[in-house]
Amino acid sequence: MLGSLGSLLLSSAALVGALPSGSGSTPDHGSAHHFVKRAALDPISTSGADGIAGGQVACDAPPVKSFVGDLKPPFPTNSWWAPFAAPPGNATAAGPFPYESGLQGSGIQFGLSTARKFDGTSIQQPTQFDWLASFTEHQGAFENHKATAFDTQSVTVQYFEGSSTLTTYLVPGSPYITLEYDSATPSFKSLNGGIKTFNDKDLGDGGSQSATGTQFTVVDSKGTTYIIYALSEISLTATADSTASGTIKADGPFKGVLRFVQLGDASHKDLLDKHAEIYPTSVAQDYSFTDAEGTLVFTWETVGDKSQLLMLTWPHHRLTMQDANFPDTTALGYLTIKGWMYPAIGNTWTMQYELTDIAWNAPRDLDASCSDAVINGLKYEIGQLNVSAAPVPGDFYYWGGALAAQGRLALIADNLGQSDLVQPVVDYLKASFAHWFDSAATILPAYETAWGGVINKAGATDTWVDFGNGYYNDHHFHYGYFLSVAAVIAKFDKDWLSQHKDYINWFARDIINPSADDPFFPIARCRDWFAGHSWASGIANGAGSRDQESTGEAVNGYYGALLWASVALDQAYIDYARLLLATEQQAAQLYWHLYPQAGETDRDNPYPEAEVRDLVTMGNVEDWQSGAWLFWGDQKSEIAAIQILPVTPVNEVLYDKQWAENVWAYTMPELVDPAIGDEWKCVIIAAYSNSNPQVAAAWAGNLTTWGTGNTFTNELYFIGTRPNPTGEPICGTLPQNPYGTFKIQDAASGKYVAASAANTNLIASATSDADAATFDSAYVPNAGTLQLTSTKEYVTSDQSGTGTLAAIRDVASSWERFTIRPKSGGGDGVYSIKAGSNGLYVTLGSDGSLINGGKDEASAAGFKFVKV
Ligand SMILES: *[C@@H]1O[C@H](CO)[C@@H](O)[C@H](O)[C@H]1NC(C)=O
Ligand SMILES: *[C@@H]1O[C@H](CO)[C@@H](O)[C@H](O)[C@H]1NC(C)=O
Ligand SMILES: *[C@@H]1O[C@H](CO)[C@@H](O)[C@H](O)[C@H]1NC(C)=O
Repeated sequence: MLGSLGSLLLSSAALVGALPSGSGSTPDHGSAHHFVKRAALDPISTSGADGIAGGQVACDAPPVKSFVGDLKPPFPTNSWWAPFAAPPGNATAAGPFPYESGLQGSGIQFGLSTARKFDGTSIQQPTQFDWLASFTEHQGAFENHKATAFDTQSVTVQYFEGSSTLTTYLVPGSPYITLEYDSATPSFKSLNGGIKTFNDKDLGDGGSQSATGTQFTVVDSKGTTYIIYALSEISLTATADSTASGTIKADGPFKGVLRFVQLGDASHKDLLDKHAEIYPTSVAQDYSFTDAEGTLVFTWETVGDKSQLLMLTWPHHRLTMQDANFPDTTALGYLTIKGWMYPAIGNTWTMQYELTDIAWNAPRDLDASCSDAVINGLKYEIGQLNVSAAPVPGDFYYWGGALAAQGRLALIADNLGQSDLVQPVVDYLKASFAHWFDSAATILPAYETAWGGVINKAGATDTWVDFGNGYYNDHHFHYGYFLSVAAVIAKFDKDWLSQHKDYINWFARDIINPSADDPFFPIARCRDWFAGHSWASGIANGAGSRDQESTGEAVNGYYGALLWASVALDQAYIDYARLLLATEQQAAQLYWHLYPQAGETDRDNPYPEAEVRDLVTMGNVEDWQSGAWLFWGDQKSEIAAIQILPVTPVNEVLYDKQWAENVWAYTMPELVDPAIGDEWKCVIIAAYSNSNPQVAAAWAGNLTTWGTGNTFTNELYFIGTRPNPTGEPICGTLPQNPYGTFKIQDAASGKYVAASAANTNLIASATSDADAATFDSAYVPNAGTLQLTSTKEYVTSDQSGTGTLAAIRDVASSWERFTIRPKSGGGDGVYSIKAGSNGLYVTLGSDGSLINGGKDEASAAGFKFVKV
């Protein structure tokens, strides 16, 4: 039933199935399997962020006072219901799925989207509000509703007027919207077309129908059907009006519970009837762990027989639930943006995940064939790090990505026994990190008091700072990098660790606090536990519409936390970070990775439409649409790469073979296009190495830049530590430039390249070896520099493709890099030269000028490198 999708998604599904029966479902009795139950994880710490460099600051969009009422921060800024709390408090909330909802002064509006369409890049289910629920006594003041409780998934909202109240338990996964009235006269307004029939009776224009009982059926003019269950008898009158609206009202104040449920198909009524009386009011979560598995348990508090609670599952639940009681999928189902929600009975879900044991480095040795190249790269790239010029942070995000990439160099050096190379990296990281402790720095971390969290101080009043960090966007992206850098320093410097542990913990607590007993941080800020993944969206724009478009960095958030926990915290937090990591990876594979091979009717395929899956990878998954696009780029390689980067050992699981192969084929036109940046190509090549490391290594040899978030060393180390089914050497013979001191000769004419202080242009014009210029050709990863020996100036090339190469640069950077390789078909000892500035090959102008304008190797001039 799972088809190909299920089997590749989680090898854990297979492993879990192979466990001794009962080991997963009864964690608390599973001592034979070494389960450690952690019903309530303790807070990492309960102390405040006193001493943080930026001090305290309050965001200028604090929670709506009337809504949070007596509740105190910390508040869950990235939860599905953050729109209820973020000002102005009426934006559309991403749930409780299958419904979406919004709080108006006059009542709660909710609906279940029935319009699903594909627009060529996105699958969309625009929010649809079907009903506004309220009571006639309520006067509509926006202040007259508030939250009375919340947990990791649900929120309880109460509308009130005098002694009349409507309390709604908004619990994700419930097929019914539950409305509990006290001394209040229920009233409902149709929002999706006027009321057409009530209990099968046509209302006509302006007509009314009344009925008394415990069950009512109402159909609007668009044909959307709801059943209203009353848990105690009630009289309701439905009235149509001529303005495509309509109301349903009770005949007087009521004490009791009404439940609304959209009926998608008449055949669903039996199951809905049977379970309508049991309703959830809140949910608790607990966790248990073995070395290899993590179990996540949801337990709903219910009114009524808890064993008969009817809930709805998404694919990620179904793939991990143990001993589940699933009615047939024909009994009930709603198609949502994450695929079909199907029923499960019972108030406890036990979901089991395989946890990674990958932490600092790859789980196998570097292939011997790659080792010289990786060590040369290490020496070069670490040699480039200048402690006295260590970066002064200019922001959170880019600083983190760049420093984390340098941090990997220390870990790789350590892994390869190059211990003398570790300390220079650690010193460099420490010098840069020190700015975060400095209250005189320009970019300051501060503790934000209105919601509770650590932010970029300048962002408290400006959503444009650091991608909205001050409004709680992207914290897992940003702090995952911080924690990775800090973990690397701490691994090699215990004094630094003990000196700064509490400080770094503020960043850790901001994204992986596991406990409601931490008075300063919400629980796992970015994670939506029911949705199974994180949202990058915080409270900007009233917190309306949730999204996440960088699953690679979301996974890295929890990877950074795992590394930090591994040096600084107890096993409990290592396990918690591993669970967050495993769940985020599973969700990325299910909802962002697309599999053209999946079957339309596979139970757990979230995208039945084949044309959606042909897009191979989602860029952005939102609550109401998911598409192959990004806020910032439209290249296929960008859309895929942002689901892959940063390249770290823990992503062995994430870059699953089938998806990596699909991405390889899908992005191939861009991989061979010189106009597309190597910083994206290198990431795609790394992912593909999980499928074919030899081919990936060969392609990696084409690269001359790796972007700020990756390095030559990390790229080749990752490729060289992949599973290697063929056993062939992974790196083979990696091509490299001829290094040494040379005269350069045009193979066709026999003329030598001349250049001098007087004429710095490189021109193949010298007819005698005596007039030839001499160049020093030196190593840079995968390529090299050419330095005119007589002047010590580096040869540079511009991006135009029409300029002549010239020896005019004192320092060599990326435009002074050249890839010099044997020219295919060029004969013995004949090379082509490719410019790092524009990825084009060097050709000769009519006067012999060396011009980097050749589109392919065939058009390149052939050169001989004559040793001096
Ligand atoms: C939300 O409230 C604001 C401020 O009161 C108002 O301007 C806006 O129209 C409301 N939006 C919706 C969707 O009701
Ligand atoms: C390192 O950086 C310092 C400060 O910018 C600079 O003076 C020095 O020349 C640099 N060293 C090297 C080897 O580039
Ligand atoms: C990159 O390298 C591979 C394998 O060596 C080669 O087949 C491919 O054509 C190269 N692509 C470009 C754009 O140079």
